[in-house]
Amino acid sequence: MSREYQTDILIVGAGAAGLTLALELADKHQVAILTKGDIHEGATLYAQGGVAAVLSDKDTVDSHIKDTMIAGADLGDSDAVRFTVEQSKQSIDWLIEQGVPFTRYENGEHYHLTKEGGHSHRRIIHSADATGQAISNTLIDNANKHPNIHFYPDRVAIDLITKDKVNQSNSSDNACIGLYSLNHKTGEVDVFKAAKIALATGGASKVYLYTSNPDTASGDGIAIAWRAGCRVANMEFNQFHPTCLYDSKAKTFLISEAVRGEGGRLLLPDGSAFMSRFDEREELAPRDVVARAIDHEIKRLGVDHVLLDISHKGSEFVKSHFPTIYERCLSYGYDMTKEPIPVVPAAHYTCGGVLVNQLGQTDLTNLYAVGETSYTGLHGANRLASNSLLECIVYARSAAQDILNQGPLSISQETIPAWDETQVTNSDEDVVIAHNWHELRRFMWDYVGIVRTDKRLLRAKHRVDLLLSEIDEFYSNYRVSNDLLELRNLAVVAQLIIQSAMTRKESRGLHYTLDHPDLAQESSPTILSPFH
Ligand code: FAD
Ligand code: SIN
Repeated sequence: MSREYQTDILIVGAGAAGLTLALELADKHQVAILTKGDIHEGATLYAQGGVAAVLSDKDTVDSHIKDTMIAGADLGDSDAVRFTVEQSKQSIDWLIEQGVPFTRYENGEHYHLTKEGGHSHRRIIHSADATGQAISNTLIDNANKHPNIHFYPDRVAIDLITKDKVNQSNSSDNACIGLYSLNHKTGEVDVFKAAKIALATGGASKVYLYTSNPDTASGDGIAIAWRAGCRVANMEFNQFHPTCLYDSKAKTFLISEAVRGEGGRLLLPDGSAFMSRFDEREELAPRDVVARAIDHEIKRLGVDHVLLDISHKGSEFVKSHFPTIYERCLSYGYDMTKEPIPVVPAAHYTCGGVLVNQLGQTDLTNLYAVGETSYTGLHGANRLASNSLLECIVYARSAAQDILNQGPLSISQETIPAWDETQVTNSDEDVVIAHNWHELRRFMWDYVGIVRTDKRLLRAKHRVDLLLSEIDEFYSNYRVSNDLLELRNLAVVAQLIIQSAMTRKESRGLHYTLDHPDLAQESSPTILSPFH
């Protein structure tokens, strides 16, 4: 039996963004959090390096702003960048108040700050090399203890319900009043009604064949918001992390940029260093530069990977700074205290997303987007390392403040129709879903990856258009499943990435095309609207 639930605030996603929003609102409002699977699973859990913030006396807000703008190839929104960086200290204080156990120097007095590519100062606060796990566990524990926060795991958000959809009118009342969600356990589609809804579903890097991201990163929030009528921005800028472990069993396990920040060198198979040929900042150039350099060398030499070496720092140093990475590498047979490890780039972060303002508000009334699923303007054409968790906390707190400022909330009285399954049957052709999944991720990697051309983008466009029509047909005829929903969302995201990439006739940040290799004199974010 399908059910209808009601709550003041409905948050889709329990990563750093969703949990921060929930904890900031729960003293005043009832909060429901939906997660696709287990409540811990999401990119936040796997974050390694840390959170960027201005915490040292030697550092300044202006320096962090400058580094963010440079990494973003001057496409960042200067207001968003300043807003985020100015809030960085308070955001870290908030995480510390929540109880996140950040690493301290040995004397215990100060927090240890590490360095990553593109940063001109040590400003990454971290919990050894498992910062995301520390944040996720702490915030989930606190949320579990709060009487007004209720988790609904194994619930896949499908689509938003707006007032005009319920009334089947073309009226201009696009207020969000709820959403449909698939219950994995029962197979039923339930209705969740809420006064305010926030999409905090993370990124879309699973659209690429090789990714550092967990399976949750299928761009659901971006596709859901787009279908409901929200604009999206800068989808052509997907970040590829330069160093994921190359091993068939490791499934692209990330090797933190902090390894290079603490002295790790990139080497060719013959043991020679190569980054100085590409950028004077060498291993600590921004990610787009390093990933492209590795991709170039791999293709030039016809090899499968390059090497990352930190063995010269000694066993004690490596084990104490990178305990998780050391153990994981050892489990695959690589002892990073003694030898270089094989690494390759993989899709890592979605810089674009649902267009929001400084309060996290989208184009739809009552709908917010926070975290990696949103586009705030912070990252421009390429995200500066460790600015993402910062953005999650800053914007979730800002959205929470906006909701709190609105006083008492009311849930819409409109009747939302139950999910209609009268016209669909169980699928007898799941092979179509599996095939299309693989095809989509493969052509995105080959044609819309680190290096692009007009011809490759056009090929990708033809394929995604065809896939979308097949998926639509499948969706209309068969009962929904998680795989079908994710495939439908990934195809939408792929189309948005391709369309945005085709629009940008220059190479900037993460968008690099052989047909337009230079920077355009004037450039602005790519904003796509579902209405034209
Ligand atoms: P996530 O943490 O990804 O959470 C998404 C949530 O949405 C999950 O709960 C998921 O279940 C839920 N969800 C998704 N779709 C649906 C749906 N349809 N229905 C219901 N629920 C749904 N950034 C940094 O700043 N510093 C780092 O050191 C760092 N290291 C990283 C290392 C790795 C390996 C990875 C993958 C990323 C790293 N990042 C880092 C990036 C950063 O971790 C993410 O950008 C950030 O955690 C995103 O948080 P989020 O709350 O937006 O989403
Ligand atoms: C890393 O530790 O290299 C990831 C940092 C990030 O994605 O910001």
